[in-house]
Amino acid sequence: MKPKGIPVSAIRPAAVVVLAAGEGTRMKSATPKVLHDICGRSLVGHVLAAARELKPENLVVVVGHAREKVGAHLAEIDPGVRTAVQAEQNGTGHAVRMALEELGGSVDGTVVVVCGDTPLLTGETLRRLAGTHHEDGNAVTVLTAEVPDATGYGRIVRDGTGAVTAIVEHKDASDAQRAIREINSGVFAFDGQLLAEALKKVRTDNSQGEEYLTDVLGILRSAGHRVGASVAGDHREIAGINNRVQLAEARRILNDRLLTEAMLAGVTIVDPATTWVDVTVTFEQDAVVQPGTQLTGATHIGEGAEVGPNSRLKDTRVGAGARVDNSVSDGAVVGPQASVGPYAYLRPGTRLGVKSKVGTYVETKNASIGEGTKVPHLSYVGDATIGEYTNIGAASVFVNYDGQDKHHTTVGSHCRTGSDNMFVAPVTVGDGAYTAAGSVITKDVPPGSLAVARGQQRNIEGWVARKRPGSAAAKAAEAASREPDGED
Ligand code: UD1
Ligand code: MG
Repeated sequence: MKPKGIPVSAIRPAAVVVLAAGEGTRMKSATPKVLHDICGRSLVGHVLAAARELKPENLVVVVGHAREKVGAHLAEIDPGVRTAVQAEQNGTGHAVRMALEELGGSVDGTVVVVCGDTPLLTGETLRRLAGTHHEDGNAVTVLTAEVPDATGYGRIVRDGTGAVTAIVEHKDASDAQRAIREINSGVFAFDGQLLAEALKKVRTDNSQGEEYLTDVLGILRSAGHRVGASVAGDHREIAGINNRVQLAEARRILNDRLLTEAMLAGVTIVDPATTWVDVTVTFEQDAVVQPGTQLTGATHIGEGAEVGPNSRLKDTRVGAGARVDNSVSDGAVVGPQASVGPYAYLRPGTRLGVKSKVGTYVETKNASIGEGTKVPHLSYVGDATIGEYTNIGAASVFVNYDGQDKHHTTVGSHCRTGSDNMFVAPVTVGDGAYTAAGSVITKDVPPGSLAVARGQQRNIEGWVARKRPGSAAAKAAEAASREPDGED
């Protein structure tokens, strides 16, 4: 009888090897294939995340093409990863040999091999593969899938009893073999010692003149070892990315997965087709995402908060019950029940207090806006601290830059600043102060004062009649002067 519910510790592989030395020519890109991004993570980053779920003792990535770039990326996203260099891409078997050399030639225990360009592969599928491998006591277990179109893939050849006998590459396959729709995903679990032995026997007498990892299956079977297969439930999970069409398809599938997870956890996604999220985005219950919204990085949407439509939020925390409408935000914290937009731009360092408001055509940067404070229209607030329950008049600018340095403006609590004000930093407006419309505030305003900083109005009577005689303006003015006065 097979043991049930194998603990992860029992199937913990000695090593996971990720093959990522290939060039990926079909991407037609200056960026190495495995560094292309879907949902906020590189292709190889997704594979490593799945591999990490197995808690392998060693995680080795085989690098070759653009190895400096790929190596630097790996060091950044997962410093525990070891790299093995495959200077020339002589095939998947050769690549695995390079990885084993990095590990001292061979390893005791299970070696799982995956490709660096299969971002949809889940840790769950890898665990199931390792579990089958362990339970059945196989020398090698291959992850297979039935696909609608097997063109290009290695075919799984089984005998009359259903046992896997070999993998035949598309280019080397007969017509009968090409009719097989069960394919090699490129993911395997091996006995480490037997793998090392078999790799020594792999030859290059095939159509590509390469060392095929897939030949190890036939070699081990001929030597009398157990060869098994684990069939993936969803063939889309094992899809390798070779071009940008497949990149877009994979992004769509992963995005759908993430949105489905969010919806099942109590988040309303009004239009999954136009909502895009990164793997790092988090939600609380009853958050609502309106159509056309893109949430990236460490963005978090709080309980009952509503974002969108048509909004782009990066590394932004939206508090419970807040509203973000048709806006763009990067590195901001939106307080509970705050209101943003429509058409606001929150830049890094923006902190919006509880029930505060940043309204239409307002840009903020490195600005702390207190509880209940409103910046409703057409303003720029940069390098500023504004207290609580203050109202900033329409079309105000926090003039923070003198052409060389940035300076800070402080506005107190319960202030009422007039429309079209310029706050020329560094400057401070005290608590409870008022400023007149059209003022250029260059000096500190004491608490409770009214600051007026604008030219006095002068009316030059009869100017139009003298300077623009006969014009429509002059005629209108003349007609107005003839009209009797109104009631008062
Ligand atoms: C390989 C399999 C095929 C399988 C398919 C699944 C072999 C011989 N064939 O074919 O059975 O159906 O994957 O997608 O294994 N790589 C290296 N070094 C090399 C060659 C490849 O690191 O010298 C890496 C590539 O970067 C890639 C992976 O190995 O991540 C697979 O290589 P690729 O050339 O795409 O193999 P396929 O022809 O697709
Ligand atoms: Mg491939």
